Amino acid sequence: MYGIDFGTSNTVVTAGSGGSSRVLDLGEGGVLPSLLYFERDRRASVGHEAMADYTDALLRFKEAGNLYSRFRFFQALKLALKDRYFEGTAIFGEYMSVENLVAIFLREVKRRADLAGGMGSGDDRLVLGRPVQLSDDNATDRFLQDRFAKACRLAGFSHVDFVHEPVAAAVGFIGEKKECVLVFDLGGGTLDISIARMEGSAIRILATAGQDLGGYLLDEDISRARITRHFGSEGKFHTMTGRELSMPRWITDQVASFYALPLADLTRTRKAIRDLVYDARDADKAKLKGLMEFLDKNLAFGLFKEIDEAKIELSTEEKTAIRFEVKPFVAFCEEVTRDDFEALVKPRVDSAMHLVMIALGRAGLDPHDVARVVRVGGSSRVPAFVAMLEGLFPGRVEEGEVFTSIAAGLLEAKERGLVVAP
Ligand SMILES: Nc1ncnc2c1ncn2[C@@H]1O[C@H](COP(=O)(O)OP(=O)(O)OP(=O)(O)O)[C@@H](O)[C@H]1O
Ligand SMILES: [Mg+2]
Repeated sequence: MYGIDFGTSNTVVTAGSGGSSRVLDLGEGGVLPSLLYFERDRRASVGHEAMADYTDALLRFKEAGNLYSRFRFFQALKLALKDRYFEGTAIFGEYMSVENLVAIFLREVKRRADLAGGMGSGDDRLVLGRPVQLSDDNATDRFLQDRFAKACRLAGFSHVDFVHEPVAAAVGFIGEKKECVLVFDLGGGTLDISIARMEGSAIRILATAGQDLGGYLLDEDISRARITRHFGSEGKFHTMTGRELSMPRWITDQVASFYALPLADLTRTRKAIRDLVYDARDADKAKLKGLMEFLDKNLAFGLFKEIDEAKIELSTEEKTAIRFEVKPFVAFCEEVTRDDFEALVKPRVDSAMHLVMIALGRAGLDPHDVARVVRVGGSSRVPAFVAMLEGLFPGRVEEGEVFTSIAAGLLEAKERGLVVAP
């Protein structure tokens, strides 16, 4: 049986049975970036291989007119799969559902897992982690979980069980002692919390809570505050009647829509930018041309990577810089200090604290009733979130295996009956 933590940013696969499951090396280590690349008539690639293929394609197809007709590159497909308003997109002229797109990614992950020796018995059952909350409406939540199940079936898994991601992590952290453990899982897309306690030989889940808050949102916050203006967000343009208007936000927001952009039909956006370049003030024309080139040359991932790496650097350094250029129109170097970043994401930290309080409320506990708080998920390393947790649970916060704790507990969670009710 396989366990897959299909994350917004990273995917981890385990195999085996229950407590003895192990993380598989998928050919580039155990943590595979959730990236998908493909061209016509070629095997799709995932992970670092997909990133290398994308970088190579940008050079190979440099002179091509429409790059989107040559290759496609997707990131954070989990966000698309859990977006109830997104159903699919046209790829190389043909409609593809979002389940199919995710299935291409998962099929390649499965192929690599099989190669890594995961499927000794030819067993193709799967335990998949899922965020605690896909929607606050039960029917929609069920609809979205069915989408995840469908993508897994299309990828070649015969049977899928679901486990809430922070419940899987809790299984690995809980000890013999009858004490409350809170898992705070802040990843790329969602914040997921579980509170659990050992009762006899059983693990009792006292509460779970989840919301859409993760590294992608923090990256978008940085982009809106510091990057979009280099692409004209603060610009003005003149209407035919001579009125001066501000730049429509949705247009320059393209450089903050990292996962949605590669999935979007850009026809309308391109036309709007072309019209705006014509009417814009001279000072803004180059920025808008830069935006057009950014879209035409499929550069979203390059900018995303710069921002994401800068944000990660701010977890250990006091300041960083985001450098990017779209020749010959746009070039910038934005210095960002940790203080700047913390001011920017303060509402996100408040919101995370609110969710912790909701989880405690659901469990009928006060902060002092919790013996241990385990931080997992890459974004749980952001010092502002660490400080928030330390404030609530002084001296009781520890770091788990940030990228692999969820995957490591999936199969044992299933064995212990902690699956999401069918
Ligand atoms: N040291 C760090 N400081 C801040 N952020 C970090 C650090 N390391 C990784 N991240 C962020 O963590 C996120 C990835 O974490 P993780 O792999 O746990 O997410 P995921 O499991 O793919 O997402 P999710 O569970 O939400 O679907 C990215 O947004 C990345 O920028
Ligand atoms: Mg995760």
